[in-house]
Amino acid sequence: MSHIARFKVAPFPLEMHKARIVQKINLLPIKERLKAIQEAGNNTFLLRNRDVFLDMLTDSGTNAMSNEQIAAMSIADDAYAGSETFYRLENTVNHFFGTKFFLPAHQGRACEHILAKTYVKPGDVIPMNYHFTTTKAHIMECGGLVEECFLDEAVKTTSNCLFKGDMDMDKLKAIINKVGKDHIPFIRIELGTNLIGGQPISMRSIKEVSAFAKKEGLFVVTDASLLADNLYFIKAREKEYKDVDTLTIVREIAACSDIIYFSARKLGCARGGGFAIRDKRFFDDMKALVPLFEGFLTYGGMSVREMEAMSVGIMETLDMDMISQGPEFISEFATMLQKEGIPIVTPAGGLGLHINAREFLPHIKDEEYPAGVLATAIYIVSGVRGMERGTISEARNPDGSEHIASVELVRLALPRRVFTLSHITFLTDRLAWLYKNRDLIGGLKFTEEPKVLRFFIGRLGEIGDWQERLMAKFIEDFGEDAL
Ligand code: F0G
Repeated sequence: MSHIARFKVAPFPLEMHKARIVQKINLLPIKERLKAIQEAGNNTFLLRNRDVFLDMLTDSGTNAMSNEQIAAMSIADDAYAGSETFYRLENTVNHFFGTKFFLPAHQGRACEHILAKTYVKPGDVIPMNYHFTTTKAHIMECGGLVEECFLDEAVKTTSNCLFKGDMDMDKLKAIINKVGKDHIPFIRIELGTNLIGGQPISMRSIKEVSAFAKKEGLFVVTDASLLADNLYFIKAREKEYKDVDTLTIVREIAACSDIIYFSARKLGCARGGGFAIRDKRFFDDMKALVPLFEGFLTYGGMSVREMEAMSVGIMETLDMDMISQGPEFISEFATMLQKEGIPIVTPAGGLGLHINAREFLPHIKDEEYPAGVLATAIYIVSGVRGMERGTISEARNPDGSEHIASVELVRLALPRRVFTLSHITFLTDRLAWLYKNRDLIGGLKFTEEPKVLRFFIGRLGEIGDWQERLMAKFIEDFGEDAL
């Protein structure tokens, strides 16, 4: 955000946009909220949006579009093959990343599917700074394994490390020595490392990985879904880049990657995805799978209207006013929660505010899912839907035992340009009440557990009757008719 002069008030994030289309939201009475979450199997993914007050499940496909994006949708050229819309998008993506080739796909995981199908064989290992759920699932579906090479600091929930997403080069080298280059199809870099709290990777680390990969003859794949946040943090936190313009930074990141893929549900505030590629060899390796799994090469499963919105949205990512809004709101939210003593991930990252559920609920065993439990409790007391990012989001170990996540977080995503400071003030107040009453909260257990990506559609039940007791305390404190 630009430097804004202030007379009396302390620094606060100021929106450099105004709302011209709004959507009404409802806050249900607590009895109905309890019923809704229990009917949803205590899984916030299974709630109906009409029962949600503030939808902080994700920033995926829920960011506000700009007036320019909406306007662009009306010039979409509807054609199965060769639409002008596609060529506009191809030009934008290649201009933005400084690449030569573009392959469209309907969303980020579709790119991961194509990538894994093309390059991952049984026994392969993919080193990365940190995994993402769908990335890991696609690699495992093809018989591969993920090896994370994160800094020890990355999983410390309270830290001063400004780039927790950096690659630990010693761990990376050790993995490659251990499994041998023949079993390493590529090294993956994730920008804005999602599962540890939207934490950025520095340009210094990106360059180091790239130089190392070149020397070893390995190639680098970058997941740029969270590029907007990472770009903001490079400019805000890496002093050499303070005065470098955003396009130059994006191209420097891209120059370190052989294949870039992204979810345009995040990058570009639309709904879609794709690959930006510099070398034709990689384009040729993957292109046949686009018509097979996604749609013809000139739409890849996306609607042309969304493609137009994406072209505009991607270019808007270069505007610091746009990309600073999320991280600066999250940082303000973090400060408000810290004043209440609520344990959160620090430094605050991008995409959302992350609460440390293990510390919030030290009496809940990892096997009873502290983050899953906290996400349901937050919904019961506030109508706000967050997302579990902990053990439930992990896959079980091959022997069936629980894979206990290194961090147990509840993510309260802040889709870009959607919520206001009063929404955040409301939620801070509810979280402060919940924190004071946290001893009332109990565990959860699976009642239906899918084998793959169980967090999406699995169902859980409360252990005991803690949810009813939490509701009773809320009613006792605020009265029968308080929402
Ligand atoms: N990579 C990263 C880093 C992501 O955060 C996501 C999605 C994907 C890939 C997959 O993209 O959803 O378009 O298929 N993250 C969403 C989230 C789902 O809620 O964080 P997708």
